[in-house]
Amino acid sequence: MTSQTLREARKYEEASEKLIKTEERPAFHLSARTGWMNDPNGFSYYNGEYHMFYQYHPYDSHWGPMHWGHAVSKDLLNWRYLPAALAPDEVYDRDGCFSGSAIELPDGRQLLMYTGVMREQQKNGGFSDVQTQCLAVGDGIDYEKYEMNPVLDEKDIPEGCSRADFRDPKMWREKDGTYYCAVGNRPADGSGQILLYTSEDGFRWKYKKVLAANNNRFGKMWECPDFFELDGKWVLLTSPQDMLPQGFEYHNGNGTLCLIGDFDKEADSFTEQYNQSIDYGIDFYAPQTVLTPDGRRIMIGWMQNWDACAIRAHEDLWFGQMSLPRELFIKDGRLYQRPIRELEGMRSGKVEYKSVQVSGTINLEGIKGRKVDIELSIRPEDERNLYQKFAIRFAQNAQYQTSVSFRPREDILKIDRKFSGSRRAIIHQRRSKVNSGNGNLKLRLIMDQFSVEVFVNDGEQVMTATMYTEKEADGISFYADGEVKMDVVKYDLI
Ligand code: FRU
Repeated sequence: MTSQTLREARKYEEASEKLIKTEERPAFHLSARTGWMNDPNGFSYYNGEYHMFYQYHPYDSHWGPMHWGHAVSKDLLNWRYLPAALAPDEVYDRDGCFSGSAIELPDGRQLLMYTGVMREQQKNGGFSDVQTQCLAVGDGIDYEKYEMNPVLDEKDIPEGCSRADFRDPKMWREKDGTYYCAVGNRPADGSGQILLYTSEDGFRWKYKKVLAANNNRFGKMWECPDFFELDGKWVLLTSPQDMLPQGFEYHNGNGTLCLIGDFDKEADSFTEQYNQSIDYGIDFYAPQTVLTPDGRRIMIGWMQNWDACAIRAHEDLWFGQMSLPRELFIKDGRLYQRPIRELEGMRSGKVEYKSVQVSGTINLEGIKGRKVDIELSIRPEDERNLYQKFAIRFAQNAQYQTSVSFRPREDILKIDRKFSGSRRAIIHQRRSKVNSGNGNLKLRLIMDQFSVEVFVNDGEQVMTATMYTEKEADGISFYADGEVKMDVVKYDLI
C-alpha cells in the first residue's frame, strides 16, 4: 500500500517535471526529476535494467525531508524516471529516508535498505537524530516497508558509538549466499568508522565488527561506504565530512576517500594498504558502485559539493546531477576511472587535428559545444624549452569561460569556474598534482551542458566540476604560454 505522503510526492513530481524543458537539463547525466537531488542510492541491476534511486526532495530545489527518487536505464546514459520509491511516512523515518542500497533477493524481489531518521527532542530542549537501518521490498516500482523495521538500531552498534550518526547501509551478497552490509558511524573519538553486519536472509542482521576506523585521519564522520573486490584487491570507498587539507591529495570540507587493501574473509578483516582521493575536482561526493552483468565495476557519484550548493539560484526548478558512470580498475595500487564505454556509442561529428602548434590563444574550426567528448594530448614543441602553461577554455563566450590549465614546471592541473556565471562566494578553483613527464599530458574532457569531468592520463585521476553557465556560451579555445604541440579529437555527444 502506498501511503498518502508517497502518493502526493508522485503526483507532484509528475506535474512539476513538465515545467522543466529537456534542454534545461544535462543530456546524459541523471538530474533530479524535479526539486532537489543528492546521493545516489540503491544503484543496482535488476530485471534487465540499471536502477538508480537518489536522495530527493521533490517540493523544493533545496534539501528537505528525504524521499527516494527513482530512474532506470539500459545503458547508464539514457535514463527514464519512475515514480518516487520511498517517502518519509513511518514513525522511524518520519524525518527522512536517508541513503542506502539495493540487492535482488533469491525469490526475484528487490530489497532496499535505507537509513530511517527520526528527530527526537532531548531533555535540554534540543533535537538529536535517531538513525536506524530499515528495509523495503518491491518489484522495481512499488516498495513495501518491512513490518519489522528498523532492522538495525542503537542495540546493534558498539558501546559509546553514536546513534545519531549511523547511516548509509551498503549491502552485498557473497558467493556463499551470506549477506553483508557496511554502515557509516561515529565512534566515541568523534571521527568515523565503517561497521560490518551480516545476515543469512537479508532481513535479520547481526553486528560483526568494525570494518575500518578513521581514527581522525581523514576528516570526521565517514558517510556512504561501498566495499567490493576489484582486480584482486578490496576497495573501500567512503565520503568523509569535515576534511582538513593534506597537500594536493585531500581538500577542506566534504571529501572522497578510497582505501585499497586486502580482505581476509575468514576473519572478516580489512587491511589497508593505499589511500587516495576518488575525485580531485570540486563536485563529487557519496559515490556508489554496481557490478554489471558482464563483470565491470561501475561507479556514479553525486556531482556536487555540499559547501558549494549555493551555486544555483533558489528559483531553479531542479538541483543536483549524478556524475558520469565510470568504470573502475586498479593499477599499481591506484584506483583508475574511465568513462563507461557505452559513451562511445553516443559520439558523432568527429573533428581531429594532429600536431597543432599552440602558442597564445587559438580556436580550431569545428571544435565547440557543450555536449562534447574531447581527447587531448600535449607535449612541448621543444623538449629543451618547456612551456609555462597550457589551457583549454570552454563554455566560453565574450563574458564567460571555464578552464582547465596545466603548469608543467609544477605538474599542477587546475580547474577554474570563476567566470562560469556563478554569483556566489564559493569555491571556484581546485588544483591537483598530476603525473606528467616533461610537459607531456593526456586529458579527456566530457562536457554535458552544466558539467565537465576531466580524466587525466587514461584515468589515473579525475577532476569534476559543475558550471551553470548559460548554454549559449559554447566556445572552446586553446592557450599556451610558450610553445605546445597538441593532438586533439572532438566528438559531439548526443
Ligand atoms: C551524504 C548524506 C548521507 C545521508 C544523506 C542525507 O551526502 O549526508 O550521509 O544519508 O546525505 O540526504
